Amino acid sequence: MRILITGGAGFIGSHVTDAYAAKGHKVTVVDNLSSGTRKNVPRAAGFYRADIRDIGAMRKIMAKERPEVVSHHAAIMEVVKSVRDPLATFDVNVRGTLNLLMAFGEEVRVKRKRYIFASSGGAIYGDPPRPPASEAALLRPLSPYGHSKKLGEELVEFHARYFGFDYVNLRYGNVFGPRQSPHGAAGVIAIFGDLVKQGKRPTIFGDGSKTRDYIFVDDAVAANLAALRKGGDMTFNIGSGKGTSDQEVFEAIAARYGYKGKVRYAARRKGEVTHIVLDTRRARRILGWKSRTSFREGVRRTMDAL
Ligand SMILES: NC(=O)c1ccc[n+]([C@@H]2O[C@H](COP(=O)([O-])OP(=O)(O)OC[C@H]3O[C@@H](n4cnc5c(N)ncnc54)[C@H](O)[C@@H]3O)[C@@H](O)[C@H]2O)c1
Repeated sequence: MRILITGGAGFIGSHVTDAYAAKGHKVTVVDNLSSGTRKNVPRAAGFYRADIRDIGAMRKIMAKERPEVVSHHAAIMEVVKSVRDPLATFDVNVRGTLNLLMAFGEEVRVKRKRYIFASSGGAIYGDPPRPPASEAALLRPLSPYGHSKKLGEELVEFHARYFGFDYVNLRYGNVFGPRQSPHGAAGVIAIFGDLVKQGKRPTIFGDGSKTRDYIFVDDAVAANLAALRKGGDMTFNIGSGKGTSDQEVFEAIAARYGYKGKVRYAARRKGEVTHIVLDTRRARRILGWKSRTSFREGVRRTMDAL
């Protein structure tokens, strides 16, 4: 298949690019390198340094590449950044998504097409009253980032119907693994790992009891492979189905490095959810997918790559 991956120079997108290329697909990456790096893009893939906010550039690329699948991973993905500058987040995550959907839909020479959208199970539900959240749970995001993903999904569903292509929304939990940047405000495993390895003290925002549904990147990639052919016009939670607290994350990483120091606690940050765990039974039933890597194994493999 001809597959165009936005955000393919970033953390998750580059792993998806690797996996699609390894299966023999013709993969092209579109990325403006704002948080990703060129060295993450495998040689086997084509590359455009371009911005999804630029509709003209997106139309040109679609006309040239004529993708059968668009895998849309480019985004501003930090909750904290979205709180600080909501307009910047909406510009990329909403307008950028709209641009891509329009440019993809307008390219009529390809008949059967699919749009795979990287959404967020970690942010789109807000704090569900009764976790685990299934895909049918109310969407009450607490941050501009989570809201931008909710709007993104709506744009995807509308344009798929309007132009006649199909879609798969993948609502990831907290994805972690090699190549995740430790320098942002998101990606706690990469951030803690990087600090603890240097003997520096990490900071937990809150008392350590906030929980997240962590999913190792290889498992997220497996969902992207399944989504090439299965699950048309559906939305899936992609998580482990287990909640892990900030304190447990710190302890797992400290144990890995034999770190005896303490962790620092600071005030909670606006926009962050308190407890989220995803119900992933639909992905199991329809995509034949389930998370296979335990949290500890994932941490070990992530730390080995640091
Ligand atoms: N990491 C997670 O835990 C997680 C969880 C849920 C959803 N997601 C979603 O998965 C996707 C990938 O996340 P990630 O963790 O790999 O983040 P990342 O920051 O590593 O990757 C995002 C990529 O998009 C590119 N990009 C950003 N703005 C762009 C623009 N305007 N035009 C073109 N390229 C642009 C960046 O350069 C980067 O390479 C995002 O859509 C994110 O919202 C991530």
